[in-house]
Amino acid sequence: MRTFFVLVFLGITGCLTAADEVPLDPVTGMKMTGDWEIVRNHCVICHSSKTFLQQQGTESTWTDILAWMQKHGGLWKLDPAVEKTIIGYLAANYGPGDKFRRAPIPLSLMPVNPYATEAKLEAEAKKKEGLIPAAPPATAK
Ligand code: HEC
Repeated sequence: MRTFFVLVFLGITGCLTAADEVPLDPVTGMKMTGDWEIVRNHCVICHSSKTFLQQQGTESTWTDILAWMQKHGGLWKLDPAVEKTIIGYLAANYGPGDKFRRAPIPLSLMPVNPYATEAKLEAEAKKKEGLIPAAPPATAK
């Protein structure tokens, strides 16, 4: 009877470890689960998968990364359903985990920073004088 329980226990832990270990794609190193192929098809065209596999983020973070990618990396406008799928996969498999840094302190709770204020005033004055551009340069398409 005892052997039976030990075997059942080993069987259960075996299943749990197997479920934890998602196989990795030998080419990209991506976790081969869910919609990983859709993400691969969109995200390794211009650069290695390492660019995003080293990142961790919530859905909100990945949404920002994709928007940044569209603005600065040349990623095309995605179909909303595809975009949702990509963000879902990335957040589920490359989420913040327990290494997440704390949330930023709300501005209202921050002490007054004299240096930042001076720098800001100086920058504003320079902008008025036309010494520094008031808007970022238009990106060449
Ligand atoms: C059309 C080309 C293109 C596609 C498609 C593309 N990227 Fe990029 N990506 C770039 C370029 C260019 C950069 C570098 C931008 C820079 O540093 O200014 C970059 C950089 C990145 C970085 C930053 C890496 C780092 O740490 O510096 C991440 C993260 C990233 N891409 C994620 C993605 C994801 C996720 C996808 C799929 C949805 C994707 N990219 C699809 C062009 C692309």
